[in-house]
Amino acid sequence: MIEIKNVTKKFGNLCAVDDLSIEIGAGELYGFIGPNGAGKSTTMKILACLLRPDRGSARVCGHDVRTDGDEIRRVLGYMPDYLGVYDDLTVDEYLQFFASAFRIARTKRRGLIDEVLKLTDLSEKRRAMVSSLSRGMTQRLGVARVLLHDPKVLLLDEPASGLDPRARIEMRELLVELRRMGKCLMVSSHILSELAEMSTSIGIIERGKLLYTGSIEDAYERVRGGERITITLEAPPEAADGAAWLSPERAAEVLRADPRVTRSESEDGKVHVELSVGEKSHHFVIESLVRAGARIAAFEPKGVKLEDAFLKLTKGAVQ
Ligand SMILES: Nc1ncnc2c1ncn2[C@@H]1O[C@H](COP(=O)(O)OP(=O)(O)OP(=O)(O)O)[C@@H](O)[C@H]1O
Ligand SMILES: [Mg+2]
Repeated sequence: MIEIKNVTKKFGNLCAVDDLSIEIGAGELYGFIGPNGAGKSTTMKILACLLRPDRGSARVCGHDVRTDGDEIRRVLGYMPDYLGVYDDLTVDEYLQFFASAFRIARTKRRGLIDEVLKLTDLSEKRRAMVSSLSRGMTQRLGVARVLLHDPKVLLLDEPASGLDPRARIEMRELLVELRRMGKCLMVSSHILSELAEMSTSIGIIERGKLLYTGSIEDAYERVRGGERITITLEAPPEAADGAAWLSPERAAEVLRADPRVTRSESEDGKVHVELSVGEKSHHFVIESLVRAGARIAAFEPKGVKLEDAFLKLTKGAVQ
């Protein structure tokens, strides 16, 4: 649905987008992540035919951004990072205005507007002035607006910016719903964790360069390693002579002997283990402990923290 090939865009000497290539298929939600000034909005504006690329090619549903602007506008919904709203209109008038701008037949408008209001949970606000809406509602109204002409592809530039935690969750639910409807979405954000859960794939961009593009699982796979696990062992039965019971100290020792483990210590009656980089399964830890006679009460893999993964990816630690 979206195909960007070796696109470069410069503003004077500044290379805002540098040899970027991304492909996004139908039914995908692509999380486009990068810090301020990374080139996210510039990339989206190129796809929305608002900026021309200096080099490379970009297509939306097979249409070329250089030559097929009209076709692209029919299949694409673009929500910019800052949406200028007309304050002296009601929510309903606002959507009526855009429906006519999209040349939607008068007879179909009412039904369509009702539908997008329902989807964005704004039905009760239809008579409210746009200026009276909260930030979260305004963002949802922006999404409602770009849905009017039923586009197959949606570009949403930071739809969750400035929203409180609850409004963020509501926005996330709305985006997941749109993905379920089969739309192709490209959603930008500064924050990986905001998008990670709902995205089917992600791209990480910094200073115009794409550092990673692919599935979330692959991203984790690449940064995996150094995984930490905390293990709690069952206390010995009161009457036991202790012979068959493995103490946390002894358990830590058993694991320390394994080359797949880089660190193994006991502390406060628990065993803290760190696996070596590239170790993809932690099942062997359970096996060795059970073989040594341990009774495991709790096994808590800490995994790789999202923000750590992001840092590793952006520091070029990953090819
Ligand atoms: N019209 C313009 N003229 C000159 N420079 C521009 C223009 N638009 C963007 N830039 C520059 O291009 C770079 C990329 O900007 P862009 O808006 O694409 O970043 P972004 O990833 O969307 O950032 P943010 O998270 O702040 O929205 C920045 O250095 C910006 O200053
Ligand atoms: Mg931006």
